[in-house]
Amino acid sequence: MKKIVLGISGGIAAYKSAELVRALVKRGDDVRVVMTKNAAEFITPLTMQTLSRNPVHTETFPHPSDYSLNHIALAEFAELLVIAPATANVIAKLANGIADDLLTTVALATEAPILLCPAMNDKMLAKPIVQENITKLVNRGIIVMDTAFGELACKSYGSGRMAEIEDIIERISAIFTPQDLQGTVVLVSAGPTREAIDPVRFISNHSTGKMGFAVAKAAQQRGARVILVSGPTNTQAPRGVTLVPVSSALEMRLAILEHFPSATIVVKSAAVADYRPQAIAKNKIKKNEGTLNIVLERNPDILAELGAQKGQRILIGFAMETEDLLINAQKKLLEKNLDIIVANSLCEDGAGFAVDTNIAKIITAKGTIEELPLMSKFDLAHIILDQAVRIRSLQQTC
Ligand code: PMT
Repeated sequence: MKKIVLGISGGIAAYKSAELVRALVKRGDDVRVVMTKNAAEFITPLTMQTLSRNPVHTETFPHPSDYSLNHIALAEFAELLVIAPATANVIAKLANGIADDLLTTVALATEAPILLCPAMNDKMLAKPIVQENITKLVNRGIIVMDTAFGELACKSYGSGRMAEIEDIIERISAIFTPQDLQGTVVLVSAGPTREAIDPVRFISNHSTGKMGFAVAKAAQQRGARVILVSGPTNTQAPRGVTLVPVSSALEMRLAILEHFPSATIVVKSAAVADYRPQAIAKNKIKKNEGTLNIVLERNPDILAELGAQKGQRILIGFAMETEDLLINAQKKLLEKNLDIIVANSLCEDGAGFAVDTNIAKIITAKGTIEELPLMSKFDLAHIILDQAVRIRSLQQTC
């Protein structure tokens, strides 16, 4: 639970701040809302009070005077000050140290990080003075989110919309996440592979990429540069990661080998097909009476190939089993020369393919086994990365 002061200034995007408060409260944050007089023209303090479950602050000098309501108390309470929307006017005041209302006074008084979510007309945003003010704030360590592109309230089309609530929440999570992977390159594989039979058909599996994408997102939040090699999926790639789309196991192998030299940590959560049709029919195979035999040949084991040349890299594999989970996973850990294997079973509800959760055992080359309960794939991703960070710091001290 984080203590967040949400400042709302007077722009039409103020109505979206109601959603932002809801999302923060849902995360378990303690939210105190500060509104400018102009913000209260767009959305009522009562709405914000109801959603935040706390009194809303609008006056620099409230009557009767109460210490808990004053600007210094709010500034000290904040672990993060978010200003969303941040108008050109508020941005200009902050850039010039002006503190003429409660919000700007709290901003000047707080030692907490400040996240600004600008929102304004595209022509205002493009004005050199506004850009100069934003640059000035960024240079002073204030975090400024990019505006989104789209239709604006004034009916023009351009950049100036407040960032999406989901993206703001993601950025807030990243601000509170330790940047222990800064300076590292994390190479992740995700999703299924498709092995073509003919121009119409392929052999594949049920992987959706959710597990690998969660690892990519967690690593990116922790400051890593992330390269995500993924088979075909409908899962949305996390913002800020480099996505390398592939289809077959052979394509995945080439992409992984290309990025392997620069990688510090490799997480192979892709469900790679072990076999592919020996020959791909040039034309659609016509149906006939009787059976159809397709001869399959082995695909290269990408992870084993990486294990043979891993050097100082930390190599993490997954094992997806339907029987003898521990024994099979430990065997793969050894055979593929891994530092960690994450074993998950298809036989447990909430684990494996296509769900947002997983149940895993994290086995290390040192012989430790961490048995984890049902949790989100994102939380599991962080636990896997915690282990990787631990191994890396041990390596560095040896
Ligand atoms: O994508 P989701 O829907 O979220 O599902 C997640 C998942 C179930 C796919 C994931 O949690 C998982 O278990 N991934 C590994 C699945 C798998 O192929 O396991 P395996 O036991 O067959 O392979 C062991 C390891 O070797 C894996 O890291 C795999 O990427 C790698 N491998 C396998 C075969 C091969 N030819 N090359 C490889 O690199």
